[in-house]
Amino acid sequence: MPDVLLLEKIHQDAETALVEAGLTVGRIDGGLSGPDLTDALAGVRVLGIRSKSAVTPDVLKAASSLEAVGCFCIGTNQVDLNAAAAAGTVVFNSPFSNTRSVAELTIAEIIALQRRLLDRSMGLHAGHWSKSATGAHEVRGRVLGIVGYGHIGSQVSVLAEALGMRVRYYDILPRMALGNAHPCDSLQSLLASADVVSLHVPATPATHHMIDAAAIASMKAGAVLINNARGTVVDLAALRPAIESGHIGGAALDVFPEEPGTNDEAFDCPLAGCRNVILTPHVGGSTEEAQAQIAADVATKLIRYLGTGTTSAAVNVPEVDLPGHRPEHVRILHFHHNVPGVLSALHAIIADAGANIHAEYLQSAGDVSYVILDIDRVDVASLSDRIAGMDETIRFRLLG
Ligand code: NAI
Repeated sequence: MPDVLLLEKIHQDAETALVEAGLTVGRIDGGLSGPDLTDALAGVRVLGIRSKSAVTPDVLKAASSLEAVGCFCIGTNQVDLNAAAAAGTVVFNSPFSNTRSVAELTIAEIIALQRRLLDRSMGLHAGHWSKSATGAHEVRGRVLGIVGYGHIGSQVSVLAEALGMRVRYYDILPRMALGNAHPCDSLQSLLASADVVSLHVPATPATHHMIDAAAIASMKAGAVLINNARGTVVDLAALRPAIESGHIGGAALDVFPEEPGTNDEAFDCPLAGCRNVILTPHVGGSTEEAQAQIAADVATKLIRYLGTGTTSAAVNVPEVDLPGHRPEHVRILHFHHNVPGVLSALHAIIADAGANIHAEYLQSAGDVSYVILDIDRVDVASLSDRIAGMDETIRFRLLG
């Protein structure tokens, strides 16, 4: 059995990094779920998946050797995170590796909407030569309003300023302005002043239909709207009449309230057929460069976890950032139920083994605690047996 099983055609860079770290890697091209996944996981320490494999409580229960799951994508809905935490199986993903890809698509759309590129191109495809400057604008000097100044919003800000745009932004958290970008006190003031409004907020109750009929009405006449964030943020039923009336000059939408699960399913959108509206199938972060960055990012997290026990950026267990342990020490990595008395029990076991504790790190989150102890190099056989026998132990391993 390989140490690592990679499913779903994960980018080659992941395999290369894992092999360079001394791990054996197996591959299966498609996604796996249920008994097929359970069978494939026999003896496997690490599973790498994208979005098509389901890591359910049953799978986790059966996969006793599974120490970590790497989701080589943004989302982690395909893994039961609570069940994984309860099994001491650490889950990693790569939430920000496609930031640049989304930012670049946004810049492309800002220019395309201001030049009404899609209408011009579709006209020509249909055999209509329509050379005109009406409604076409340079982006230089125009006001870009960014809603959500996080990883993507701030990248868009930098790129847009390089094009000569005047950037304003609104965020619920204080965010340092990059370049000459100007923070707005309210969403309303941003909407009222922007020629282009670009949304980069997460899906939360507060952002649900954040751009509704009232918000659309408060936008500048002729302004364009870009949503590369989440489909719930814009009320599409309110957007269509605003585009038809000309109050909104155009839109680019990459995300929708309901999106097909596969490429074979039909897709219907209230904005279909509207002029100067760009519709893309949630491809904002889908570039080969982003895939390579995701591969490197998740593989690095997995290698650090296997090598040192570091769980930084894990999505389901307490996060601990660890230095490597010294060669003269043994490192105990111990996931346990978050109840009183576990540390003193561990200390007693270590003392009975005649070992000194040189370093100790502990984090708890919910029902799970993670303690790491660097101790003298002793005969670990009886130590292991006693730790395994503790009622509170979920999973443990020894390094060195
Ligand atoms: P981020 O977490 O770095 O930034 C989000 C920002 O929005 C934060 O600064 C936060 O304070 C702010 N925010 C949250 N609620 C707000 C509110 N009610 N009003 C104003 N600001 C608010 O996230 P990141 O990575 O920049 O992603 C932004 C969005 O892009 C997310 O919805 C993400 O899911 C989406 N996304 C879409 C992709 C695509 O393929 N189209 C790919 C990657 C991300």
